[in-house]
Amino acid sequence: MKNIVVLTGAGISAESGINTFRDANGLWEGHDIMEVASPIGWEANPALVLDFYNKRRSQLLTVSPNQGHLSLVALEKKYNVTIITQNVDDLHERAGSSSILHLHGELLKVRSQHTQDLVLDWKKDLNLGDLCPNDSQLRPHIVWFGEEVPLLNTAITITEKADILLIIGTSMQVYPAASLLQYAPNQTPIYFVDPNPAIAPKPHLTILKEKATTGIPKIVNTLLDQA
Ligand code: APR
Repeated sequence: MKNIVVLTGAGISAESGINTFRDANGLWEGHDIMEVASPIGWEANPALVLDFYNKRRSQLLTVSPNQGHLSLVALEKKYNVTIITQNVDDLHERAGSSSILHLHGELLKVRSQHTQDLVLDWKKDLNLGDLCPNDSQLRPHIVWFGEEVPLLNTAITITEKADILLIIGTSMQVYPAASLLQYAPNQTPIYFVDPNPAIAPKPHLTILKEKATTGIPKIVNTLLDQA
């Protein structure tokens, strides 16, 4: 079976009701990005950071995967599919995809402030004073600006083996995630689904200027037909 690598961003979850970062009314409304998503912000005002992610976490529990997430699952009938997502939601998991790598962390997990690999599942609010088994404060399991992306090398290795690359709903503005495109082999067909695609034309690139819920099913059907 051929390998399909799917790189997703906030746009795939937009129609589930989760705001994107850089569209109007984005997720950061009322907050400077660095205030809520950086180690400096965490040090300056951890209560504000926890409150911000508590709101995101409780909202996530009220939304559902959309036709975009769901359609990707069908690809597994005929391809080895790996999803590399920049999203911290769990909508790919709930849709039923089986191989998902969260490049920027996961909203429904928390980790010890001092021990990066001490990670716990977490669905309720996280508060100051909630401690890990080693007695240090727990923080959101999110890769903040200025922090290393621990799964980057794994994502590069996966992308290097892509026979087909799908890119969905990302502004391709945040590095190193956006740089993954460069690791796909030269001949690999690339499909990009986004109503406002910010990508320069290049050989083997097909752009679908559409929302996830309509664009993804079309590409999935095409790929299933040609498998
Ligand atoms: N379907 C598909 N794409 C959509 C839809 C939709 N219904 N609605 C919006 N989009 C597209 C926008 O056109 C835009 O290109 O989704 C993209 C969202 O871009 P960003 O808000 O920049 O999100 P993303 O690229 O995922 O951001 C990357 O930045 O803030 C950090 O860590 C955060 O993972 C995030 C990273």
